Amino acid sequence: MKTGGIISVLVLVIVLVAGVNGEFVTCTNRGSKCFLKQLKCPSQCPSTSPSNPSAKVCYLNCNSPVCSPECKNRKPNCSGRGAACLDPRFIGADGIVFYFHGRSNEHFSLVSDHNLHINARFIGLRPEGRTRDFTWIQALGIMFDNHKFSLEATKAAKWDDEVDHLNFSYNGNELAIPEGYPSIWKSANNEIKVERISSKNSIMVTLPEIAEISVNVVPITKQDDKIHNYNIPSDNCFAHLEVQFRFLGLSSNVEGVLGRTYQPDFQNPAKPGVAMPVVGGENKYRTTSIFDTKCESCVFSPAQVPRKEDSLVMDYGTMDCTSRSSGGNGIVCRK
Ligand SMILES: *[C@@H]1O[C@H](CO)[C@@H](O)[C@H](O)[C@H]1NC(C)=O
Ligand SMILES: *[C@@H]1O[C@H](CO)[C@@H](O)[C@H](O)[C@H]1NC(C)=O
Repeated sequence: MKTGGIISVLVLVIVLVAGVNGEFVTCTNRGSKCFLKQLKCPSQCPSTSPSNPSAKVCYLNCNSPVCSPECKNRKPNCSGRGAACLDPRFIGADGIVFYFHGRSNEHFSLVSDHNLHINARFIGLRPEGRTRDFTWIQALGIMFDNHKFSLEATKAAKWDDEVDHLNFSYNGNELAIPEGYPSIWKSANNEIKVERISSKNSIMVTLPEIAEISVNVVPITKQDDKIHNYNIPSDNCFAHLEVQFRFLGLSSNVEGVLGRTYQPDFQNPAKPGVAMPVVGGENKYRTTSIFDTKCESCVFSPAQVPRKEDSLVMDYGTMDCTSRSSGGNGIVCRK
């Protein structure tokens, strides 16, 4: 009797401690495998909103065929799948690295699907005697349903870490997201969430069940300039974006410079074994502005979205494939 009482108290204490040390997460959409299940975060990432901005966060993918919280980095990983960094160097869904140079001061569609369209504005320069522009991604225009969100790296002569270089707009209005961490903005009906993942120059954009986009703003450093011979002028540090995309429900018809690599039968034209495989397609993906959804290969048509049935392409690109918690449970950490 007495022992039983002590054991119950112990069990209760253990449950309480577990609750304190790890948050529980759930999914509220009926279609999800995890609908209303209370699932505990892994011990490596006990919180969904850690006080340390560079800590991994606990994350539950409600679209996943398995129901298991995972650890996730919020900062973009330029070596991971879905990355678009540097002079734009992309990593496709297949893990293949490729370069798409486009042209400076032009726009190209990175992703074009039935209900998601993402354009990038390229900035850059062409040193004398070169046959092409050196380019970087300066801005993203993100469209879904009838919404338009943009984020831009603001121009700076000299880079200063203490200054925020991000500028946002939503449905045509400039959007102020206070500096600091945490600092979160959500649209009226939660169609989009933008959160700072450090006090300045890093954010994560979440379109629930559609995509997650991690972004840093970075300059061209003196060192980059020297290594690559960009010949950066003294009055512009070419502040640009490092981006990693994670897509939660692309269709098999997805298009765009990066998007097409998510087609189930995609054959990457990037030549294997080449140090810097460049892919073309400028004419297929060029748009006239950051919010233009028309291009030769573009497929954006939000009014007639085939719901769900074709949304089967899953991406676990930013999952922490180093921890024991992934790899099992049917999630394959592709290398
Ligand atoms: C970034 O991704 C690569 C490739 O998946 C991985 O090897 C590396 O550990 C990742 N880096 C971080 C900081 O997670
Ligand atoms: C930020 O973007 C708005 C348009 O959305 C533009 O009017 C404004 O000049 C931009 N600010 C900077 C500092 O680039």
